[in-house]
Order: sequence, then structure tokens, then C-alpha cells
Amino acid sequence: MMMRLFFIILLLFIIQYQTSLLAFADDHQHPAKIELLHRHAPQLNARPETQLDRIKELLYIDMTRQKMISQKLHPRREACETSNQTAIEMPLRAGRDYGTGQYFVQFKVGTPAQKFTLILDTSTELTWVNCRYRCGRNCIKHNTTQPHRKVFKADLSSSFKTVPCLSQMCKVDLMNLFSLTRCPMPLNPCAYDYRYLDGSAALGIFANETVTLGLANGRKKKLKNVLIGCSDSFKGQSFANADGVVGLAHHKYSFANKASPKFGGKFSYCLVDHLSHKNVSNYLMFGGSKNESLLSGNVRYTKLELRLISPFYAVNVMGISIGGVMLKIPFTVWDAKSGGGTIIDSGTSLTFLTEPAYKPVMSALEMSVSRFERLKQDGLPMDYCFNATGFVESLVPKLVFHFADGARFEPHTKSYIIDVADGVKCLGFVPVTWPGISSIGNIMQQNHLWEFNLRESKLGFAPSICT
Ligand SMILES: *[C@@H]1O[C@H](CO)[C@@H](O)[C@H](O)[C@H]1NC(C)=O
Ligand SMILES: *[C@@H]1O[C@H](CO)[C@@H](O)[C@H](O)[C@H]1NC(C)=O
Ligand SMILES: *[C@@H]1O[C@H](CO)[C@@H](O)[C@H](O)[C@H]1NC(C)=O
Ligand SMILES: *[C@@H]1O[C@H](CO)[C@@H](O)[C@H](O)[C@H]1NC(C)=O
Ligand SMILES: *[C@@H]1O[C@H](CO)[C@@H](O)[C@H](O)[C@H]1NC(C)=O
Ligand SMILES: *[C@@H]1O[C@H](CO)[C@@H](O)[C@H](O)[C@H]1NC(C)=O
Repeated sequence: MMMRLFFIILLLFIIQYQTSLLAFADDHQHPAKIELLHRHAPQLNARPETQLDRIKELLYIDMTRQKMISQKLHPRREACETSNQTAIEMPLRAGRDYGTGQYFVQFKVGTPAQKFTLILDTSTELTWVNCRYRCGRNCIKHNTTQPHRKVFKADLSSSFKTVPCLSQMCKVDLMNLFSLTRCPMPLNPCAYDYRYLDGSAALGIFANETVTLGLANGRKKKLKNVLIGCSDSFKGQSFANADGVVGLAHHKYSFANKASPKFGGKFSYCLVDHLSHKNVSNYLMFGGSKNESLLSGNVRYTKLELRLISPFYAVNVMGISIGGVMLKIPFTVWDAKSGGGTIIDSGTSLTFLTEPAYKPVMSALEMSVSRFERLKQDGLPMDYCFNATGFVESLVPKLVFHFADGARFEPHTKSYIIDVADGVKCLGFVPVTWPGISSIGNIMQQNHLWEFNLRESKLGFAPSICT
């Protein structure tokens, strides 16, 4: 009798163990793959006519974003200058522009799922959608389901749970996501108030919601208790085509930190040449790619700094070489503790270098293209453009980013000598005043797979055609 009971318990234990192993293996074998649409993808119907106009729009967005990044560096000073409220009430009240990413994803929120086109941003912590929440508790739900809605109707979702304003989560964890201290009743929703560079604001409440992801094997996975912002009032130009933002920056409650543990602790993306006219697709993936083995020989790893320039993904660049020659760049440029440092950013197009790095890089590259007629391009922040008639990539020496741990990133030549119009190319760097943060933008990253391993704090990268 005892023996039989023992075996039953053992059997149950084994079944349980097997099931948990299977669940784990399942996630690894079937990563979630999400298509990324570039801002100018045909599907979004927002593609400027000419290539020059497209570049101008991207760069306009870059400039706004760069301001946001540099202000993030000095948030305290900014907060004091712009607000006489207490630091606790308005943490990090530097202007931030969440609307300036370059890639869009289809994102399903709620139960039943409502579908949105959101900007994907590796430098934003909060995931939020345009949203209506009227009822609160015990209200009558209005049945106003419409196809292609652009507003998340929180009242129609059974999984929408507001975060109470008296909770630790609201008062402490979400403080640097602009949560407000206002709390008339303990169960009132935790509210937020974002201020933007242009003076506009996003107001809303925090909630936990269910997000549905499509897996590479065609099935679906539901992630519960994902923090989302329900923004009921928002104004901002760059949102013309988006219903909100998916935040992939490093933060306890960001979507990246919520989703990645279910998929081996990592996410990756691969961006194709967005200037190409072909409709090729970019993707974001949670979990390992089945084809990792195909890449493994080529993957290089460097330390991913998760807390150095929070919430950005920072890397320890220690130098840039051109044609095998290390450029003379003061080390402080790469040192986050001295006001410098480097982030890898999916939402900036060009690569921004602080002046002490920008100047040597530009003069080395200018030399290699000096035989071509220099052209002035109005409305572009790039200093050096040229008539590319007769240009071949082999004329330009290879540029290499060197990381402190010895890894080297060798971007494709087309990623820094970029096409801006028919027969016109520009050196794809933009200066940032020193002290400041340098950003490796998404054009520099193109045709590489980038794997953000949050569990092991490492960044893997390998050349890839992104299929
Ligand atoms: C805050 O600043 C505004 C003007 O910027 C001023 O009118 C107001 O009196 C100040 N409030 C406090 C409490 O200092
Ligand atoms: C809402 O409408 C759908 C179909 O339009 C229906 O199936 C559902 O029962 C309705 N829900 C309520 C609460 O009326
Ligand atoms: C929201 O989700 C977090 C985990 O992400 C959990 O700690 C918290 O208790 C949840 N709050 C509510 C109100 O569901
Ligand atoms: C490219 O896009 C067009 C519509 O813009 C579509 O008709 C065509 O099938 C696409 N080609 C591929 C290979 O996806
Ligand atoms: C892996 O590569 C094969 C061909 O090389 C391709 O058919 C397949 O779709 C790839 N799988 C993934 C998950 O990318
Ligand atoms: C570039 O130079 C060629 C002649 O070498 C000329 O025909 C062409 O118009 C020039 N293009 C531009 C954009 O100036």
C-alpha cells in the first residue's frame, strides 16, 4: 500500500517535472517572431516621395531623439530648471520624446485581443497605447467593437487590471516612469504624466494587461500581467501612424524584461537595408533563432551594460579604426562616468558621435572620397556629401568599432557611406556636442543580427541577410 502510494507520488512528480521541462523546451524551440515595419514601409502609407525626402524625415526624427538622449544624461539639472515641484513628484522630468522610433510592430493587447500598430523602441521603458478607460469598477460595459480601432478600449478587456495608486509598484517602481503621487483613494489607478520636448504631454493610467505574441511555429503565446500605459490624452506629431509604443529598454517593468525570461532571457532583431526599394522584412524575435547554429561561427559577443546609461543599452566602445589604423580619440569619449559613453539604439537612424570622435572619423573618411565632387545638401545635418558617379565601395577603407573586451564590429560600407539621393552619397555621421552620449544608429546596424541577452548581460552580433 505504502509502496504503491510512493510510486504514484513519484510518477506524479516525474510527470510534473517532464511537463515543466517541455514547457521550457517549447519556448526555446519556438521563439516569438514579430515582423518589424520600417516607418517608410509601403504598408504604413507614409512613405515620402523621394529618397532625399525620406532621409530628411528620418534625420529630423534623429535630431529630436538625440536631444532626448542627451537630456536624459542630465535629468536632475533639467528637473530643477524646468520645475519647482519636488523631485519625488516629478522624477526625471527632462523632456523625452517617445514618439521618435523608426520601426513599427503589430501588437495585440487585452482579452479578447485588440490589435495596434505600435512604435518599437529599445530606448523606452514603458509600453503604452492610446486608450479609453471610462468605467472603473462595477460599470456597464459598452459594446462598441469596431474593426481597425485605433484606441484601446480598456472597458472591453477582461484582463485589464489597473495598478492601485497606493501600491509599492506605483509609489516606488514606477516613479521613474513618471507615476504621480496623487492618490485620493487607495484603489484609484496609478496615473502618469509624461512631458515632451515640444511641450505636449501624455496622461494616462498604468495597468496590467495580457499581450498575445505569435510564435514562429504559428501558435500563440499569452503573456499575462504586462505593464502597459493606458494613455487617454496625448498629443505628438511623430505619432501620426502609431497607436503607441512598445518599450524594450531595460527596466523592471519594460516589455523586454517581461517577455524575455519566457524565451531564454533574450531578444534579437535583424534590420535589412531600409533604403532599398525591395519589400524585404525586418524582424524582432524573443528567444533563440533555430538557425543560430548557422551563425554561431560568426557571432561575436560584447558586454551589454544594462545600468551604465539607464535605460539605454550601453556598450563599451574603446576605439574606432579606419583602414586598420586606430584613430586618436580621447578615452573619455567612451567613458560614461566622464559624461561620454555609447549606446546601441534602434530608434536613431544615423550614428551620432561626440565631437572629439566625430572629427577624426570624418577626416579619415573624407580623405578616401575627396576625389569626388563635394555637394551641398540643403536640409541635411550631414556635413559631407558627394557626387557618387564612379564610386565603388572598395575605395573606402573599412571602419571598425572596437569594444573593450576585444570584440570588433565591422559594419557594411553602405552603412556609413549612405545613399541620400540618386547619385549622391553622404558620410553617415552626425556630431554631438561634448560631453555627450554617442549612439550607434540603426543604419549602422543593418544586415546584422543583434541579440540582446538580458540574462547574461551580453550583446551578440553577426552579419546576416536577416531572412
Ligand atoms: C512655481 O513656479 C511658477 C512659475 O514658474 C510660480 O508662479 C509659482 O509660484 C512657483 N511655485 C512655487 C511653490 O514656488
Ligand atoms: C458584444 O458584441 C459581440 C458581437 O458583436 C457579442 O458577441 C457579445 O456578446 C457582445 N457583448 C456584450 C457584453 O453585449
Ligand atoms: C501587475 O503585475 C505585476 C507583475 O508584473 C505584479 O507584481 C502586480 O501585483 C500586478 N498588479 C495587479 C494590480 O495586477
Ligand atoms: C512587395 O510588395 C508588393 C506591394 O507593395 C506586393 O504586391 C508584393 O507581393 C511584394 N513582394 C514580395 C516578394 O513580398
Ligand atoms: C532556418 O534556415 C532555413 C534555411 O536555411 C529556413 O528555411 C528556415 O526558415 C530558417 N528558420 C528560422 C527560424 O529562421
Ligand atoms: C555627378 O557628376 C556627373 C558627371 O561626372 C554629372 O553628370 C551628374 O549630374 C552629377 N550629379 C550630381 C547630383 O551632381
